[in-house]
Amino acid sequence: MYRIAVLPCDGIGPEVVAEGLKVLAVAAEKFGVKYEAVEYDIGGDRYLRTGEIIPDSVMDELAQMDAIYLGAVGHPDVPPGILEKGILLKLRFEFDQYINLRPVKLYEGVWTPLKDKGPEDIDFVVVRENTEDMYVGIGGQMKRGTPDEVAVQTAVYTRKGCERIMRYAFELARQRNKHKTVHSVDKANVLTYGHDLWRRTFAQVGEEYPDIKKEYAFVDACCMWFLKNPEWFDVIVTTNMFGDIITDLGAMIQGGMGVAASGNINPEGVSMFEPIHGSAPKYQGKNVACPIAAILAAGMMMEHLGEQEVGGAIENAVAKALASGKLGDLSSRSGVSTTETGDLVASLV
Ligand code: IPM
Ligand code: MN
Repeated sequence: MYRIAVLPCDGIGPEVVAEGLKVLAVAAEKFGVKYEAVEYDIGGDRYLRTGEIIPDSVMDELAQMDAIYLGAVGHPDVPPGILEKGILLKLRFEFDQYINLRPVKLYEGVWTPLKDKGPEDIDFVVVRENTEDMYVGIGGQMKRGTPDEVAVQTAVYTRKGCERIMRYAFELARQRNKHKTVHSVDKANVLTYGHDLWRRTFAQVGEEYPDIKKEYAFVDACCMWFLKNPEWFDVIVTTNMFGDIITDLGAMIQGGMGVAASGNINPEGVSMFEPIHGSAPKYQGKNVACPIAAILAAGMMMEHLGEQEVGGAIENAVAKALASGKLGDLSSRSGVSTTETGDLVASLV
C-alpha cells in the first residue's frame, strides 16, 4: 500500500492532476497495486487566505510519504518567487531531490516543429542537477532602488553535487543502452571556476564508465543541436539553470508543454513527480489544459516506486491516445478538453 501526497496547487494544476489520478486509478487497479492518495491544500489561494505556504507539520507528513505528485505552482496575485521558492524549490531542496529527470521524447502521432524529424530522432533524457547552481538563493542586494544599486546571485557547485548527478546520468545511459553516450552540457568556456569543477568531475566519474562515451556541448551550442540534430542525444547531464532552460526547448520539440513530464528524484528519499509546465492561470477552470504531461508524470512516479507494470501501462495508454489522432494539437485550442483527454487515456489502459 503506497501513500502518495497529492499537491494540485495553482492554476491548471488541479485539473491536470485530476486526470493523472483518474488514469493512475485504472492502471493500479488493473495490476492490483494499492495506494492511498492524500491531498494537500497548498498553493497561492491558501497563501492569500492564511499567509501560510507549507506548514512544518505538512513537511513532516510529506517526509513519511512514498512519493509526491504535484500539479503546478504560480498564482497571478502572488508576486513571483514566493510560491516557487516556498513550495517547489523548498520541496526539491529539503527532500534533497537532486535529480531532475526530464525525458524529451516525441511520441508517434505528435507534431514537432522540427522539419523531417520524427519519433526515431527525438528520444533523449535530460538529467538536470536539482539542488545547486544559482537556485541555492545565496546572494544579496545593496543600495536597492537607487541608481547605485548592486545585486549578487551566487551559483554554487560542489564536488559531491556534481559527482552524484553525473553518476546517475552514466548509470542511466548504461540502462537505456541506446547510444551509450552522456553529453555534459555546460559553459566551461566562460564559467571557468564552477564549470571547471563540473567538467573535471565529469571526466573523473566518467572513468568509472569506460563503456559509456563522454561528449561535451556548451549550452548555447546544445540549443542549436536540439533543433538541428536531436538524434545525437541519448543522456544529457547539466546544471540546474541550464537544465531549466533547455528543457523548455526540449518540450517544444517533443510536442509542447502539454506533454513534458518530470521527476524530482532522491533515490534514498521522497521523490516528487510533476509536469514541467507552469500553472497557466489564464486557462484555469476552462477545462482546456492538456493533461498528458501530468499523466506521464504519474507513470514516472509508479516506475520510480518499482511498479513497472503500472508505469508502463500508463505510458502505453498515453502513446496509444496520442497515436489515435483524437487529441488534436495538444494545445489549449485543440478542441479536446482536459477531462476528455483523461477519459481517452484511461479507456486505453
Ligand atoms: C521548472 C520551473 C521551476 C524551475 C520554477 C517554477 C521555480 O520553471 O520546474 O522548470 O525553475 O525549476
Ligand atoms: Mn522551467
